[in-house]
Order: sequence, then C-alpha cells, then structure tokens
Amino acid sequence: MTVELQDFTCALAPQVKEVASASWHQAYSGIYSRDHIDRFIAEYYSVQALCRCQDAVSAGDEFFKVAIVGGKVVGFCHMGASEELYWLYRLYLLPGYQRSGIGSIMLSSGQAWLRSRHAGEYFAVVHQGNKIAMGFYRKKKFTVYGPAELPGEVVLRKTLRRASP
Ligand SMILES: CC(C)(COP(=O)(O)OP(=O)(O)OC[C@H]1O[C@@H](n2cnc3c(N)ncnc32)[C@H](O)[C@@H]1OP(=O)(O)O)[C@@H](O)C(=O)NCCC(=O)NCCS
Repeated sequence: MTVELQDFTCALAPQVKEVASASWHQAYSGIYSRDHIDRFIAEYYSVQALCRCQDAVSAGDEFFKVAIVGGKVVGFCHMGASEELYWLYRLYLLPGYQRSGIGSIMLSSGQAWLRSRHAGEYFAVVHQGNKIAMGFYRKKKFTVYGPAELPGEVVLRKTLRRASP
C-alpha cells in the first residue's frame, strides 16, 4: 500500500470530517454515546472549524497532515503548541486502514516536525478506555504524565531523542 502525506488544506476538510466521524464511532463506541460523538464531530470537525487551521499550517506553525491512499484521505495527524508545550492534538485513521503502519508513519513525520522546532517532548490526551490507542502510544514509548481535565482521560508524555522511533 502506498501512503502519501500531504499538508491539510481547506479543500480536504470534508474528507477529514468523514474520517474523524468513522474513526470516532469506532474508537469511542463503548465510551461515549452516538449522540455525543455526532455533536462533537459537528462542532470540532465542521468545515469552518477545520479551515481555521489552514493559516497556521501554511505558515508552518502547526503540523497537520492527511494520509492519502489511492487518492483518498484515510487518516490525519495534527500537532501544535499550546501554552508553551507541544501537543499531539489528533491522530485518526479510517478503521479499514488501521494496523498497517500508517499511524506510525504519520507520528514519525510529526515527530520530525517537532524536532525541527527543537521540541524535547510533547504531550497527548487519551481516554484510558481507548485500548487500541493506549497500546499504540505504549509501543511508541509514551508514558502517563497525569490525569487530564475530563474523567477517564490521561495526559501522556513522549520524550524526543534525536533518532527515537
Ligand atoms: C491509534 C491509531 C492511530 C494507530 O495507527 P495504526 O496505523 O493502526 O498503528 P500502526 O499500524 O502504526 O501500529 C503501530 C503499533 O501500535 C500497536 N497497535 C496498533 N493497533 C493495534 C491494535 N489494534 N491492537 C494492538 N496493538 C496495536 C502495535 O504495537 C503496533 O505495532 P505492530 O504492528 O508492530 O505490532 C489507529 O489505530 C486509530 O486511528 N485508531 C482510532 C482513532 C484513535 O483512537 N486515535 C487516537 C486518539 S488519542
């Protein structure tokens, strides 16, 4: 399978929203209600909300890549800085494209961007009930940093060394 990473542009927003919706319903089906997920996607993945990232991505101030397979958006990865810390904001793949290394490819590319900005570490918020994501981050050497704002969520930290995977 050939995977190409491209910068997010506003024109890709509808496809990103579709991926987010399918991935959220799969990852959080036992955690949040269908209604909650639909409302979350409608608010945070509307074309308007997604397009607000475009300027920061074009300026190189945020990392927001989509993964394309056979001309179709199958996943995306979004990183940036908030309150002087670097964060992995979102990493989502269509269910049918998981477990074939695309998440690893996107994360490595994001980490290269973080290193180019001299980041020594970054953080992610994950629901502990999302066992696949917890397993993925464990494999990528994230460690639990502490509780997050919402119940069930934790903040993970990853230390970046020059050539760590
Ligand atoms: C988490 C996610 C991005 C991982 O991407 P991926 O492309 O499927 O992961 P990879 O194929 O690169 O896997 C890397 C490692 O993660 C672990 N892993 C990934 N999927 C796994 C699964 N279903 N079960 C167990 N371990 C898994 C494995 O250790 C794997 O290494 P291996 O294949 O050599 O054993 C993807 O599963 C996903 O989109 N999940 C739904 C959305 C989500 O939960 N996002 C994170 C929100 S915080």
